[in-house]
Amino acid sequence: MPVIRATAPGKIILLGEHAVVYGQPAIAAPVTQVQAQAMIIAEPRLPVGRVRVQAPDIGLESWLPDLPGNHPLAVVIDQVLNKIGIDHLPALTVRVTSTIPVASGLGSGAAVSIAVIRALSDFLGRHLNDEEVSALAYEVEKVHHGTPSGIDNTVIAFGRPIFFQRKPNVNRIEPFKVAKPFLIIIGDSGFESPTAHTVGDVRVAWQSDPERYEHLFAQVGALVHSARQAIEAGAMEMLGPWMDQNHALLVEIGVSSPELDRLVASAHQAGALGAKLSGGGRGGNMIALVTAETAEPVCQALCQAGAKNTILTTIQ
Ligand code: MEV
Repeated sequence: MPVIRATAPGKIILLGEHAVVYGQPAIAAPVTQVQAQAMIIAEPRLPVGRVRVQAPDIGLESWLPDLPGNHPLAVVIDQVLNKIGIDHLPALTVRVTSTIPVASGLGSGAAVSIAVIRALSDFLGRHLNDEEVSALAYEVEKVHHGTPSGIDNTVIAFGRPIFFQRKPNVNRIEPFKVAKPFLIIIGDSGFESPTAHTVGDVRVAWQSDPERYEHLFAQVGALVHSARQAIEAGAMEMLGPWMDQNHALLVEIGVSSPELDRLVASAHQAGALGAKLSGGGRGGNMIALVTAETAEPVCQALCQAGAKNTILTTIQ
């Protein structure tokens, strides 16, 4: 019985979240320690067109037509069929599992979409390249996140650090060189916070005071340009203070929380070179730049300050 599998990593935003929705650049990197996986299993004993959808992590077991039309898995399957130009599937099971925490800024939604797009298109004999995979996942993101910038689907589809800038016609997507690999600890505040909510709240705030918010976003954009240069030059000592400044701007933008601020402060006290929230904010994850020597103390400090989980990852 043929089975096709595909995986997709989680992601962090190193700098530039929220401002990226308004056309400023941002830098993101994949996190391979957490993964979404999709399996497509042929079901020759079922009638043609019978499609079963299973996501045991969330207790989902359903026939495809019984899912609401806007369910993320229904939308993603539909996107693949449209792209490949077929109107029905052979009998099969789509099974999705993921170790990426949901609503925590690590890109779980985009990763599930990308794993399904890759597995299903390969199963149907049509390999899609990274750009095609990313574009389909973006369509799914739009259904669920309103006004996503496209950075999550892009970094997860490309699977390497990227400099991303949303543009009216063609986005600026530049995978770039990390001169010296560096260490990041990801700390989970333990509070779920759907990105769609924070992105929506920032939009309302921006509409009520566009001048103030455009100014904040422009400051974030300037930090991102400087950070890219530092990463490309291997001048990592400069990156930490820019992450700190980015966090301060995110506080002003209104997307931090007492828990995230506490984790950021304790990472500093334990010797992190810089720290900030990452992703949508108000909950979810923060990141801290560490060295081989400070990784362990920062991890311990984050746990003592209430982090539900920590992940040490190398950006390279
Ligand atoms: C989410 O990972 C990053 C945000 O900037 C939203 C987006 O870019 O779509 C908060």
